[in-house]
Amino acid sequence: MKRKFLLLLVLLAAIQPLKADEGMWLPALISQRIADMQAKGFKLTAEDVYSINQASLKDAIVLFGGGCTGEIVSNEGLLLTNHHCGYSYIQRHSSVEHDYLKDGFWAMSRKEELPNRGLTVSFLERMEDVTDAVLKGYKPSMTEEERADLVRRNSEEIRKKAVEGGKGLRADVEALYYGNQYFLFVYKIYRDVRLVGAPPSSIGKFGGETDNWMWPRHTGDFSIFRIYAGKDNEPADYSEDNVPYRPKKFFTISRAGVKEGDFTFVYGCPGSTKEYVTSDEVQYVGEVSDPQKIALRTLRLDIQKKYMSQSQAVRIQYSSKYASVANAWKKWQGESKGIAKMKTVAAKKDYEKRFRAWAKGTRYDGLLDKLEALYARRNPYYLAYEYYTETARTIELLTFANAVRTNLRNPDAKADAAATFFKDYYQPIDEEIFVAVLDAFNKNMTDDFKPAYFKEKLAAYGSLEAWRDDLFARSVFTDREKVLALTEADADRVAKDPATELYDAFYRWYYDTLRPVINETNQQINLAYRDYMQGQMEFEKDKVFYPDANLTLRVAYGHVEGYSPSDATYFYPVSTLKGIIEKDNPDIFDYNIPQTLRDIYAEGGHDDQPVCFLATNHTSGGNSGSPVINADGNLIGINFDRVWEGTMSDIVFDPDVCRNISIDIRYLLFNIDKIGHASYLFDEMRFAD
Ligand code: ARG
Ligand code: ASP
Repeated sequence: MKRKFLLLLVLLAAIQPLKADEGMWLPALISQRIADMQAKGFKLTAEDVYSINQASLKDAIVLFGGGCTGEIVSNEGLLLTNHHCGYSYIQRHSSVEHDYLKDGFWAMSRKEELPNRGLTVSFLERMEDVTDAVLKGYKPSMTEEERADLVRRNSEEIRKKAVEGGKGLRADVEALYYGNQYFLFVYKIYRDVRLVGAPPSSIGKFGGETDNWMWPRHTGDFSIFRIYAGKDNEPADYSEDNVPYRPKKFFTISRAGVKEGDFTFVYGCPGSTKEYVTSDEVQYVGEVSDPQKIALRTLRLDIQKKYMSQSQAVRIQYSSKYASVANAWKKWQGESKGIAKMKTVAAKKDYEKRFRAWAKGTRYDGLLDKLEALYARRNPYYLAYEYYTETARTIELLTFANAVRTNLRNPDAKADAAATFFKDYYQPIDEEIFVAVLDAFNKNMTDDFKPAYFKEKLAAYGSLEAWRDDLFARSVFTDREKVLALTEADADRVAKDPATELYDAFYRWYYDTLRPVINETNQQINLAYRDYMQGQMEFEKDKVFYPDANLTLRVAYGHVEGYSPSDATYFYPVSTLKGIIEKDNPDIFDYNIPQTLRDIYAEGGHDDQPVCFLATNHTSGGNSGSPVINADGNLIGINFDRVWEGTMSDIVFDPDVCRNISIDIRYLLFNIDKIGHASYLFDEMRFAD
């Protein structure tokens, strides 16, 4: 009987889906994880993933621009990332005659590839633990200021040495685990990156804000670029003479497809997480900050939406602005719900109780009380700061006024700013937002957390509406011609403009009253976390701690798996073209697919064309565009999102619902071929199967 039961247990364990794939690991320390990765199916070695002696997978990955990831897929510098990562570059090349956002863009030869001023890609040359060198000369008797100063000086020296003699190198020294460890990251930065292809937005942004952060998902969220280098293969400014970059390593593509349970490995640059914070921080995020910011953004989104639905021109002007406001707005909703559902605040409180008991008599005694006091002091100021950024700072006219003022001496920059501003400005939206956000600010902030100027003006005008009418009527910044005519001689007038005045009043208030407290408390909070992090590591000796994300390259491994978002519902992990056709609706902007796609589908045989898939990889913002790699180390997809129910993974990871969303590489190939008619690109790719 007992044996039978044991056998059953073993059998059950074997058929049970693999568990808990939390963690974003440092590639240089991958030897500590590789056994686990291999046990879960990975067939390559630690050296294949990260090596400084030979070409490894890390050499085929870049930080794309300032906040996405990309991967190389040919010997000629061909690079894949997301559509939403390439969006602003695609937009910049777009005009009424060539609307590449709407229609897509496909270079039919190298000559047609489009250069992108300001776009860079950064390859990680190496990363290295430099803790000893950073803390060289440290004495326990030092004050925190002295320590910080030492760290700064040592880091500077390490950075200087690291880039000596190299071309296009940049070195960063990053604190991990709140400064318990320091790592050097050396990047080689290429700055001639050209646009090769992008699907129409109706594919690349299919589902729009409706489907964003959601599953089932059918977004073809990819774009294609190519890196160019000087003849010596080194970074160079844009030049017609540049040649396609020859990578040390590029990804082989697998067309074998994915199924539930398959090993997946996301190799990219997650931006920021806070997995080890106290219950106070989690409570602030989940119960205060997120809900308040959501409410403030709802005001703006409703106003934008109203005007966008009335006019096609306004919809085009505001679609990108709307998308960026809506993206975080929707994420915060998932995040605060997730934190509540996981009861993370209570769980952390319980943990802290146990930590406190354990810490009695150790150097960690009293640490949590200290953190608690620091949060109590910081939070009202921090909330006011968040209110400032989500209200006064969102009035477009005010930020524009400031931009013009800063560029008064520089007519070209001023003209540039004016062109960008007026191209996408619709004043009725801004006027309505002015009243809505300042009203919320006025109602929700206590009197001691309001700029004096704001209180006086509001009292003088009697209402925000009256203030708005006067400000928009009198400000010079609503008039393109007048703005273009401004010169240095108008500095006084610009400073006294009601828009500039209001901008300044808020900024001054922030700078003089909020910032000092926030900076000081944050510094102390970080300091306390340095100890708390160490304390947690001693308290939980057997747990392996991965460092919080900081936009450096990380390894997240998991497997393809669906999930159950709510009672009686289960989501399968793979979506197909059939689902796009099911959603297709010419009357709904987000679901209106290109006619070509309808025609291709009508030909038949494409029902099972895979589009996106879910996996359990622990990812974050910045992981967009990351390669998704199979057990053989081949490319099977491009990561671009997470599911809504799992967006609290930046704070707490729930293996039941935290899923990353990737575009299946076969849908990208389908688009290149059938939509872009650019299958010539396949010639330079390498396929495993
Ligand atoms: N949610 C994804 C990420 O955080 C995609 C954002 C872009 N797409 C959008 N519809 N706003 O970046
Ligand atoms: N969409 C995000 C990005 O752009 C990825 C995520 O937050 O999961 O990086």
